[in-house]
Amino acid sequence: MQEKIYEVAPEWSRRAYLDDAGYRAKYAASVKDPEAFWKEEARRIHWFREPTRIKNTNFGPGEVSIRWFEDGTTNVAYNCIDRHLDTRGDQVAIIWEGDDPSESKTVTYRQLHDEVCRMANVMRNRGVKKGDRVTIYMPMIPEAAYAMLACARLGAIHSVVFGGFSPDSLAGRIEDAKSAFVVTADEGLRGGRKVALKENVDAAIARVGGVEHVLVVRRTGAPVNMVPGRDVYYDEAAQMVTADCPVEEMNAEDPLFILYTSGSTGKPKGVLHTTGGYLVWAGMTHQYVFDYHDGDIYWCTADVGWVTGHTYIVYGPLSNGATTLMFEGVPTYPSISRFWEVIDKHNVNIFYTAPTAIRSLMQAGEEPVRKTSRKSLRLLGSVGEPINPEAWEWYHRVVGDGRCPIVDTWWQTETGGILITPLPGATRLKPGSATRPFFGVKPEVVDSEGRVLEGACEGNLVIADSWPGQMRTVYGDHERFVQTYFSTYPGKYFTGDGCRRDADGYYWITGRVDDVINVSGHRMGTAEVESALVAHPKVSEAAVVGYPHDIKGQGIYAYVTLMAGETPSDELRKELVAWVRKEIGPIASPDLIQFAPSLPKTRSGKIMRRILRKIAEDEFGNLGDTSTLADPSVVDDLVTNRQNRR
Ligand code: WTA
Repeated sequence: MQEKIYEVAPEWSRRAYLDDAGYRAKYAASVKDPEAFWKEEARRIHWFREPTRIKNTNFGPGEVSIRWFEDGTTNVAYNCIDRHLDTRGDQVAIIWEGDDPSESKTVTYRQLHDEVCRMANVMRNRGVKKGDRVTIYMPMIPEAAYAMLACARLGAIHSVVFGGFSPDSLAGRIEDAKSAFVVTADEGLRGGRKVALKENVDAAIARVGGVEHVLVVRRTGAPVNMVPGRDVYYDEAAQMVTADCPVEEMNAEDPLFILYTSGSTGKPKGVLHTTGGYLVWAGMTHQYVFDYHDGDIYWCTADVGWVTGHTYIVYGPLSNGATTLMFEGVPTYPSISRFWEVIDKHNVNIFYTAPTAIRSLMQAGEEPVRKTSRKSLRLLGSVGEPINPEAWEWYHRVVGDGRCPIVDTWWQTETGGILITPLPGATRLKPGSATRPFFGVKPEVVDSEGRVLEGACEGNLVIADSWPGQMRTVYGDHERFVQTYFSTYPGKYFTGDGCRRDADGYYWITGRVDDVINVSGHRMGTAEVESALVAHPKVSEAAVVGYPHDIKGQGIYAYVTLMAGETPSDELRKELVAWVRKEIGPIASPDLIQFAPSLPKTRSGKIMRRILRKIAEDEFGNLGDTSTLADPSVVDDLVTNRQNRR
C-alpha cells in the first residue's frame, strides 16, 4: 500500500517557529549537549534563583534518580500569572464555555491573579502550607484551575481526581496522598446531567479518615449537606480574604502535583511531577507543538482530571501567556455540532482532542460539521490513543477542510508532556504516525530481550535518557517507580507501548503491550476492573482484557466465573456492569461480559490472558500454543460461548 504523505504547506513553513532544517538542527543540539541546551531553554520561565546545575539523572544501574535544574528556585503560579500582569493583564487567560451554550465567560490574567490569590488565601487560612496534599474533585469550571494554581502558589501539592470517579476511587486517592483538604463543587453539569460531586466527597470521607476541610464551589446551587466546621462554601470564604497572596519560593525539584494513573498491576499509582522541569517542558512543548503565537485562541477538550488537562489546558498555555479555552460539556450536547459551534463562537485557532471523539462524531456524517464555518481553525491535534488513518483523514478533510495540519502527539501521564509529535511547520505528516521525537527525547525500539533495533523495525518503545518533564517517582513508593519503569529494560525508561519505526525514522505507536487498556482515551488497568468484579458476592473469578472497539478504540471484555450455585443471566450481566460503575466509575463499565464456567490457566494456576485476548478479538484460529494449559478443553468452551454471543 502506498503510504500517504502530507507535505508542509508553504504558508506554514513561513509562519511557524521552525521549518524542517530548524527542527533537525535544534534536535541534534538537544541530544548532543543536553546540559547546554537545557540551560538555555530553562530561561523560558522566570527563576527567583537561576539554576546552575542543569541535569542530574540516572536511570540505573544504581539508584534511579531524576533531577533537573536542582539548585534553581521558582514558582509555577508566578510563571503562569504574575509575570504576565505587566504585559498582558487585560488579555483573556481563560475562556470558559459552559455545558449550556448560553453560559460562557472570560477571565483576564488580572482577574485570574485575583481569583487564584483569594483561593490560596482561603486555603492558607485553613492551614494549607507548602508540601501539604490537596485533593481537587471538580467539574470543568475555572475554579478547578484556580484551585490548582492556588496550590502551586502556596507550594501545596495538588491531586486532581477526575469527577467521573466513584466515591471509592476518590477515597483511595485521598488516603494514598494523606490529603486533609478537598476542593469540590456542589454538583457538576455535563451534557445536561448533574453529577453529585459533594455527595460523592461525603461518601468518600465516610470511608477514610483525615479530611479536615472541604471547600465547596457553588456550580448548580443545589442544596448539599454541609458539615459545620469542616465544609465551607467557597464564595462565602472568598469574601473574607484579600486578592493578594505572596508566592512561595519553590525549589525546582519540589513536588507540584500527584496524578493517579492505572498500571498493569495493583492500585493506581500516584505519578509525581515536580516544579521546574515540568514547567519548562509544559511551556516549551505547548509553544512548539501547537505553534502558539500571541493572539491565538487555543482549545484542548480534555478534562483537568487527566494529565492532558493539567499540561495543555492549564500549565503549558498559561505559562506562555496564552488564551486557553475550558469546556464544561460534552461533544454531543445539545447537538452533535457542539465542538464546531464552540470553535465558531470563540474563533478557536488551535483545537486539540482525542481520536475517540473524532470517531464518534464521524458516525453522524459530515453535515453536522459542514454546516459550521470553522474558518478560524489553523491547526488540529490528537492525543490519548492511536488515531486510525480513517479517523485522521476525516479529521483533516472534514473538520480542517483539508487546510489544517494534524499533530498526533504521543505521551503519557508519566512523561508530563508530549514526547513524540510532528511540528506543524517542520514535519511532513503520515496519517496514523506520531512522527518524530521532540527536543531532548531519545526514543529507542527494543526487542523482548532488550536489544536495541536499528532502522525500520518493530518492538517495544523505551526512552534512553531523561527529559525535564519526566515523573520523578511514584508518590510514597519509589521502589514501585523503579520496578515499573526501569526494570524491564535496565537503564531505560519503559513506556509500556509497542511501536514501529519506518524507514524515514517515523514512529507509529501500536498500543499498550502490558495489561493496561485504553478505553475512549482513558487509561484503565485490567487488574482494577477484575478486583472490582471479584468484590461482587456472586463472582468467584474474573479476567479482563481489551478488544478492538470501533469508537472507543478498545472496549472492556470481562470473563466472569460465578460462585457455585449462581446462574448466568442478562440481569446478572447488568447488575455486574452497574457494580463496576459504582466501584470505579462509569469509564470502567465492561462492554461485554462472558460468563465462563472456568478460565484457561497454566498448571501453576496463572490465567493465560493471551488466549483470552485472542478470543475477545475473535481470532479463534490463532490461539497459539494451548498445550501448557491445565485443561485445554476450557478454551473450546470459551470459544463456543463467544461465537454464540455474536
Ligand atoms: C496512549 C495521555 C498512540 C499510549 C496523554 C500511552 C497514544 C497512553 C497517544 C498514555 C498517541 C497517548 N498515539 N497512543 N498519540 N497518546 N497514547 O497516561 O498507549 O492517559 O502509553 O496519557 O496513551 O495514557 P495517559
